[in-house]
Amino acid sequence: MYDVYKIRQDFPILSIPVNGKPNTFLDSAASAQKPAQVIEKMRRMYLEEYANVHRGSYYLSEQITVAYEEARSQIHEFLNTKSDKEVVFVRNATEGINLVAASWGRKFLQAGDEVLISQAEHHANLVPWQALRDEKGINLKIFKVSDRGEYLEEEFLNLLSEKTKLVAVTGMSNVLGTVFPIKRMAEQAHKVGALVLVDACQYTVHQKVDVQDLDCDFLVFSGHKTYGPSGIGVLYGKYNILDSMPPYQYGGDMVDTVSYEKTTFNEPPFRFEAGTPAIMQAIGLGEAAKYMMSLGMEDIFKHEQELTTYTTNALNEIKGLKIIGQAKDKGGVFSFNVEGMHPQDLAFILDKEGVAVRTGHHCAQPIVNRMGYESLARASLGLYSTKEDIDTLVAAIRKAQKFF
Ligand code: ALA
Repeated sequence: MYDVYKIRQDFPILSIPVNGKPNTFLDSAASAQKPAQVIEKMRRMYLEEYANVHRGSYYLSEQITVAYEEARSQIHEFLNTKSDKEVVFVRNATEGINLVAASWGRKFLQAGDEVLISQAEHHANLVPWQALRDEKGINLKIFKVSDRGEYLEEEFLNLLSEKTKLVAVTGMSNVLGTVFPIKRMAEQAHKVGALVLVDACQYTVHQKVDVQDLDCDFLVFSGHKTYGPSGIGVLYGKYNILDSMPPYQYGGDMVDTVSYEKTTFNEPPFRFEAGTPAIMQAIGLGEAAKYMMSLGMEDIFKHEQELTTYTTNALNEIKGLKIIGQAKDKGGVFSFNVEGMHPQDLAFILDKEGVAVRTGHHCAQPIVNRMGYESLARASLGLYSTKEDIDTLVAAIRKAQKFF
């Protein structure tokens, strides 16, 4: 039984008033709040078991190395990777995509090869490919979504060809909420010999993501959106592909042997973790994954789907409000525009009511523009969101409308 009110007790920040009002936090898609379990784990490790990892043969170093590698195993379980060796800790999802572009992309792509992305990509899954296009002469192809923000299979298939070497696509859009049919897309991409990279920043937050079932080749997600700390993210890659890739950065820990003349490199994932990693952040992320799995990914999904329907209905009742992104298969992200009101002004008034929403282009300017806007307000759900949060949001929007 998913008891959201009990779960909220794990997030002390949610019971601290904001501007004298109950905290109505609806910006989890930008960064989620952290459960006490994650904070406590990191606090305890700092206080009692801290040292560097992979480098010492003394007690504390061994303890922290075990904890760091245990975090890797927790992510292995979270994503159902084949082994721990397929889990690379990076700084964030952006770094994960840049790593693939710089390492795999530079080695394996040639002028004329194509990378195929959707119109709904975050800057992190667009700009690295533009940079690679300019550097290597590859072609960047972009398939359209509908005016309602839906995935259009015929648009994808029209651009997918033998020239496509990589399909890089979001699992769930941070602007539209649209969930893309990754498993089916991966099957289609593999038929033409293309690899598949999934930007799963919003995807892993809301539902079980099983990389073996999806059969994607790479997947990235960020720690801070997944109830873990910032400064940590994950790159999943199939082992044989990771093993074929050159290092992304050079330094300590990523090497096997070093002489003045020559260096040989460590195996994945260590080959891609140069320097002292974000030790505590990785441990915190492992704890966050454990926390989510303990609640049950299916139950989190069910709770958020019910709330997504509730939110859609509630927002649709507000005159002059338009939800941008109305795909049938969507997660708890609601970008919207209210007639006659700039999103920034709206957010300012909502803040006075204790309601946090994001405004702007959400680091995905092209899709916001393609939907016909410069800026949008966005409310997004987390596993701790409630119907009461949505009622407060709706009441605050109605109140704001009275000012205009
Ligand atoms: N890209 C994050 C968002 O959607 C920060 O808000």
